[in-house]
Amino acid sequence: MASSEAISPAEVKSATKNALDQIAGASSMADLKKVRAAVSGDSSVLASLSARLGKLPADQKAEAGKLVGSARAQIAEAFEKRESALSLEEEKLQLAGEFLDVTALASPARLGARHPLSLLQEKISSVFVGMGWEIAEGPELESEWFNFDALNFDADHPARAMQDTFFVEPLDQKLVLRTHTSPVQVRSMLDRKPPIFVLCPGRVFRTDELDATHTPVFHQVEGLAIDKGLSMADLRGTLEHFARIMFGDEAKIRLRPSFFPFTEPSAELDVWHPGAKGGARWVEWGGCGMVNPNVLRASGIDPEVYSGFAFGMGIERTLMFRNEVTDMHDMVEGDIRFSKQFGMVL
Ligand code: PHE
Repeated sequence: MASSEAISPAEVKSATKNALDQIAGASSMADLKKVRAAVSGDSSVLASLSARLGKLPADQKAEAGKLVGSARAQIAEAFEKRESALSLEEEKLQLAGEFLDVTALASPARLGARHPLSLLQEKISSVFVGMGWEIAEGPELESEWFNFDALNFDADHPARAMQDTFFVEPLDQKLVLRTHTSPVQVRSMLDRKPPIFVLCPGRVFRTDELDATHTPVFHQVEGLAIDKGLSMADLRGTLEHFARIMFGDEAKIRLRPSFFPFTEPSAELDVWHPGAKGGARWVEWGGCGMVNPNVLRASGIDPEVYSGFAFGMGIERTLMFRNEVTDMHDMVEGDIRFSKQFGMVL
């Protein structure tokens, strides 16, 4: 390069214009950094003008020095302005990207709902806990002895066939899916000393097909009271109290003679349901009776000293007539829209 060549105003002007155009065209801080290297870096036109300035004859130096100096100043100012404009823009963009609307409503998370059968089971349990009863539990996979034998079902007693049973293989283990919660009567008596007041809610199994009123897996609640001198009057009083809490003050109960191997005498329990759809009426609710002395003996309790009563009812059935559920499918399918309806009313 002819370094001692004169520096013309046109040359400086075009270099300046070129630099200013590039600065104006930089669209980001990163871009501007590149432009700075190109426009004022060591190999830039500006740098070569400065280098040439030093080699000019003395008489041209002042003039050319002014030209180049003012070009530099102009360019430096343009850089500064563009830099602050770009940094403001980028900051705005960043803030917009990080914007958080603290007043926005959270999108509603889909919460689950307690199943109405659980709610009803808890309500029933709390009625009895309120009277000082204990909640007892037993296994769902039960030995035939607890499910039948200890409850006074003979090996070939026709009552065994009343409850269509799931027998569990290998059959010589003599295990069944319990067909009712009554085996917990026996377990509770073997575990405790009288007086005994236990309530056992739980799952039971029978070989029924699922339809509008049946399901092979359902829930029962069993009550057992053992003490000195308990009679049918105590059973009646307890059930009537229970019925009133479940169905209202006008509810009452009715006992009809029946048969269960584990109670003697035995009764079917009906409840007068004042709030029934279509008008107050009697509804079959469950079974009950005085604990059979054979069951007391099998459970290690002396029937000469103690007597007791027991009752049992289905929770699905109770929910159906108490809360007007007409199809069993709704209870087993687990659709949250079904459960939600009961959140407030049970
Ligand atoms: N276990 C009986 C049933 O499943 C109900 C019942 C319980 C009857 C307790 C009398 C006493 O049908």
